[in-house]
Amino acid sequence: MPILVAPQAVLRQKTRLVRPEDMSELRTTIPRMFSAMYQAPGIGLAAPQVGLGLRFAIVDVSDRDEGRNPIVLINPEVIAETDSMAAREEGCLSLPNQYAEVIRPEAVRVRYQDMEGKRHELEADGLLATCLQHEIDHLEGILFVDHLSTLKRNMIMRRLAKEQRQKH
Ligand code: NI
Repeated sequence: MPILVAPQAVLRQKTRLVRPEDMSELRTTIPRMFSAMYQAPGIGLAAPQVGLGLRFAIVDVSDRDEGRNPIVLINPEVIAETDSMAAREEGCLSLPNQYAEVIRPEAVRVRYQDMEGKRHELEADGLLATCLQHEIDHLEGILFVDHLSTLKRNMIMRRLAKEQRQKH
């Protein structure tokens, strides 16, 4: 399953909520997304990155030596966040080889549904908090570079475009 690279238009579109009738498609798509994410390797992948305009994402921030911890987030939303902020280096499978420090709320509470439609709330800090916010951003058409200054963002996008040209 190919992962789309910026500036693909679908990466900039806001997704729509997943409905019960979407679930059969998700049941085939989600295992393929996990394979693509683990192979990349990455710790999160949102539907727009595989060309789907639906509000769902997958994450797994586990240390692979200690076993996997896959989480499927259907219709996720951040329902609370701390005032305190934390800086962490981020990358994105849709912006290969590009990294920058991003400042976000240090901890968040996220509400989502699982594959069975059951509602969950997850409180996260550290790497998982960053990852969840990054993936939920994707569902709004937002990329991590949007949190940077225009100068830094343009630098990264130009460098990415150049590297992609050289690759093809
Ligand atoms: Ni990303």
